[in-house]
Amino acid sequence: MDQAVAPSSFSYSDADFRRVQEIALAEAGISLPVSKRNLVFSRVSRRIRTTGKASFKAYLDYVCSPEGHTELQELICVLTTNVTQFFREKGHFDHLETNVLPVLAQHLRAGGRCRMWSAACSTGQEPWSMAMSVMAKIPDALRLDIKILATDINHVVVENGRVGRYPEEELKNVPDSWRKQYMQPDVRGEFLMERDIRRLVTFRPLNLNRTWPFQGQFDVIFCRNVVIYFDDETRNALWKRLAERLVPGGFLYVGHSERVECMKECHLESVAPTIYMKKDC
Ligand SMILES: C[S@@+](CC[C@H](N)C(=O)[O-])C[C@H]1O[C@@H](n2cnc3c(N)ncnc32)[C@H](O)[C@@H]1O
Repeated sequence: MDQAVAPSSFSYSDADFRRVQEIALAEAGISLPVSKRNLVFSRVSRRIRTTGKASFKAYLDYVCSPEGHTELQELICVLTTNVTQFFREKGHFDHLETNVLPVLAQHLRAGGRCRMWSAACSTGQEPWSMAMSVMAKIPDALRLDIKILATDINHVVVENGRVGRYPEEELKNVPDSWRKQYMQPDVRGEFLMERDIRRLVTFRPLNLNRTWPFQGQFDVIFCRNVVIYFDDETRNALWKRLAERLVPGGFLYVGHSERVECMKECHLESVAPTIYMKKDC
């Protein structure tokens, strides 16, 4: 601790904000617009108080030092926006259930494998929605070689996703029959993803803008509502890397306000707004 009692507020200059912008961009690819200046102040102030540092400068110096590596991850966590919901952008799940899972079911039952990736999974509603779609359309999924990887840069939301506990008000987009089948009420009056469906999903922290610690390819990638925080260069580089990880005929789903502009280089074709298929190349 730099001091016994941390101040309740800190002086905050344009230079402090610029440093946070630089760190977010370098570490996570996140571009923080000036409109987020006040939000950044309140979120970073929490971390300054928790670490007992005396000022923005002392805190940011610490975060940038080798000893501050763990705190750097905490800083990135408070700078991320984690808004999500079950079956968000429902058309994607309709497409998955109608056009993709029936074909994958045949492939799986013939002894094939299927890998799906929720690449910025936040608190888990997205991968759990994918898992419910899988269970509903491929009821024998647990006997087949199908898995869903759920990753996010923010280790706190990844842990929440792994726990898989949600209050009732968050379940309004989950059909009642699916809630009864795939979730169980707990003593707190909340709902926990049930034991069997858990076998489908693995949660891991992962920064999309760093090396990925796996080699495999995916049949389905959901990468939604994350590149809106990236600049053009970071966004296009990520689309190329994701496309390389798709099997021919595999699908990439992006957020409704997002687009893949470099489709040709990525060997992707648009099959519906915000849904892309990898071409044979
Ligand atoms: C708005 S949420 C979107 C969640 C979900 N995909 C959806 O559409 O509902 C954006 C998520 O992207 C994550 N994120 C931001 N930068 C990232 C990065 N460089 N690598 C991995 N995840 C990142 C954030 O932590 C956050 O949970």
